[in-house]
Amino acid sequence: MAILVLGGAGYIGSHTVRQLVRAGRDVVVADNLLTGFRQAVDPKARFYQLDIRDRQALDRLFGQEDVQGVIHFAGSSLVGESMRLPLKYYENNLWGTTVLLQSMVDHGVDKIVFSSTAAVYGEPGQILIGEEDTTEPTNCYGQTKLAMEHMMKWAAQAHGLRYVALRYFNACGADSAGDIGEAHDPETHLIPLILQVPNGRRDKISIFGEDYDTPDGTCVRDYIHVTDLAQAHILAMDYLMVGKESNVFNLGNGIGFTVKQVIDAARRVTGHPIPAQVCHRRAGDPARLVASSEKARKLLGWDPRFGDLETIVASAWKWHSTHPQGYDG
Ligand code: UFG
Repeated sequence: MAILVLGGAGYIGSHTVRQLVRAGRDVVVADNLLTGFRQAVDPKARFYQLDIRDRQALDRLFGQEDVQGVIHFAGSSLVGESMRLPLKYYENNLWGTTVLLQSMVDHGVDKIVFSSTAAVYGEPGQILIGEEDTTEPTNCYGQTKLAMEHMMKWAAQAHGLRYVALRYFNACGADSAGDIGEAHDPETHLIPLILQVPNGRRDKISIFGEDYDTPDGTCVRDYIHVTDLAQAHILAMDYLMVGKESNVFNLGNGIGFTVKQVIDAARRVTGHPIPAQVCHRRAGDPARLVASSEKARKLLGWDPRFGDLETIVASAWKWHSTHPQGYDG
């Protein structure tokens, strides 16, 4: 019996495949390779190039493989792009998931763990965000992820599926082996952009606003190592396999770091001065996003190991310093 990882050639997907393989699981990966990389997929996993909106291709895969459960990462995930191209997000994230769930129901596959996001909360009212807090997304990406959660709820009720939605905070870092890591084009995330400076690919890092109501005026985020995220997916699948009910979990460290603290950590790790320039706020950025992950710790037994900021940045640097052009060089 195999675990099917959709979007398993992407950043968090490829790290989850790696952890599944290390745990001795039988893994099948499907990815359309539009944003993922074939080289990121562990060679011990069986690979299918397909798009989840292609119902026939999905049906063939479910016919060929004995799939026990699905871990679903396949989707679009850039906040800024989602504001410019909202229909792309509805089509890829919602229509793709609709086709997937229909095919799963028809093939009797009844367990799914999938990527949700901290973006479902919008501008949070609480210091530590809990799963029961108000969900009012301020961008289209978060809105489609929240709609996916709702779709799962109704499909579960009607068709006997069970699901776990994992709301990630700021995914970062790279696998300890140093051969897979974060590679987006265009890159928009803070840590890879900072590391482009010591890599000689940019002169300085821009700080998007220092007039927020935070300790140093820059935005606070909860940075969570991708290997810890990967582990949570495996625990969530095991949770469903022992018959537990559908659920939603936050995944973060519960500790917030400012943009300036992250830049300082990168200066210490790389030994490079990394010049920084303060510019205007980026539209749609909440001042502070920090997770309460008590529920995941309690119900999934999740125990994130790599919360230390320097450990996170050092693992990202190990990947970026040896792969300055990502998988292309
Ligand atoms: N930032 C800068 N300069 C940069 C890039 C980012 O100052 O060049 C700041 C941002 O303003 C933000 C912080 O660094 O305050 C982190 O930004 P990222 O783009 O790395 O991450 P976000 O917090 O914007 O996004 C993350 C996830 C999304 C998720 C979102 C929820 O990547 O998938 O959290 O709000 F939707």
